[in-house]
Amino acid sequence: MTDLSLPFTPIVRGLPAVVPFVPPEALERRNGRPLRVRVGANESAFGISPLAREAMARAVDQVSWYNDPEAYELRSALARLHGVAIEEICAAAGIDELLGLVVRLVVEPGDPVVSSHGSYPTFNFHVSGFGGRLCAVPYQGDHTDLEALSAEVKRTGARLVYLANPDNPMGTWHPATQVRAFVEQLPADCLVILDEAYVEFAPQEIHFPCDTSDPRLILMRTFSKAHGMAGARIGYAVAHQQVVAALDKIRNHFAVNRVAQAGALASLGDQAFLRQVVQQVEAGRQEYQALAAELGLRAIPSGTNFVALEIGPGARRLLELLLENDVFVRMPGVAPLDRCIRVTVGTPQERAAFAQVLRQVLPQVRP
Ligand SMILES: Cc1ncc(COP(=O)(O)O)c(C=O)c1O
Repeated sequence: MTDLSLPFTPIVRGLPAVVPFVPPEALERRNGRPLRVRVGANESAFGISPLAREAMARAVDQVSWYNDPEAYELRSALARLHGVAIEEICAAAGIDELLGLVVRLVVEPGDPVVSSHGSYPTFNFHVSGFGGRLCAVPYQGDHTDLEALSAEVKRTGARLVYLANPDNPMGTWHPATQVRAFVEQLPADCLVILDEAYVEFAPQEIHFPCDTSDPRLILMRTFSKAHGMAGARIGYAVAHQQVVAALDKIRNHFAVNRVAQAGALASLGDQAFLRQVVQQVEAGRQEYQALAAELGLRAIPSGTNFVALEIGPGARRLLELLLENDVFVRMPGVAPLDRCIRVTVGTPQERAAFAQVLRQVLPQVRP
């Protein structure tokens, strides 16, 4: 319970005591034993590039020095990759940190902010944390609804809208042409966060050239997924120079540690590793599709490293049963998405173990 004599702001006093995610480590502590299969947090099951491993090991030897707060080498490489200027790249401790920074840039208490109902919860967490008012629109056929998002921006006068493409938790995506059209018709004073955490796993049609000439568009990418560096906490935004300069005014300049910077830079240089991860994920998605067909379930087509499997009203119970068997899986938090469970593509061994437990427990929720 909050002690009201403590000098917390009204916003903080009004916040519910929630964390956006119960971590698998907490589940292990609760169960009193380790998990057997960890396919719930969309982490990579395929490790890191050997070049990243070497670079990170070397960086550990220099960890007594502060990191480069400008992440100059990494940002230079990212600028080359995206064909933009280094002043148009902001490095941060993952997309999660960037989401909070952008909210802080534009949201004042009570301001409306638009997102999709049931989409990536960390964004909502930051909106609440800065006193914003989340205006979330329903999905349409398991896709984020671009028309509804844009109508809600216009109805509320929001100056920030969030879109994950591909989406988490459903894994669906919109082609670049549609996203471009969506951005173009937004009001001039509305920023859009385009969260591309899973873009490496998506079909080619999702990619559009970075356009930093439009100051409304903030593209976010991460090293947590295809690069396999979730625990190193590193991601970046590509945006107009003025947006990056504004982020520079409020960001934690030392947030991206030395080891993470070195690993990300080396990983960027190992495109063969990345291609191989993407191929393994594609194979795993196909395996989940086949498993779903075998069990009479629908697997929602995914452009990510996870697949949403449609279970029906027993989805939550199924999650518990999986956990009782030491299999960690997550599910969307709200209806109608919560008829699904969301399974990350694990290693072939993890997939086999997941399939075996699923076959065993599914009849208890789908007689
Ligand atoms: C849509 C989306 N954005 C961002 C993140 C987190 O990215 P990062 O690890 O870079 O903070 C996730 C993680 O699952 C995600 O699903």
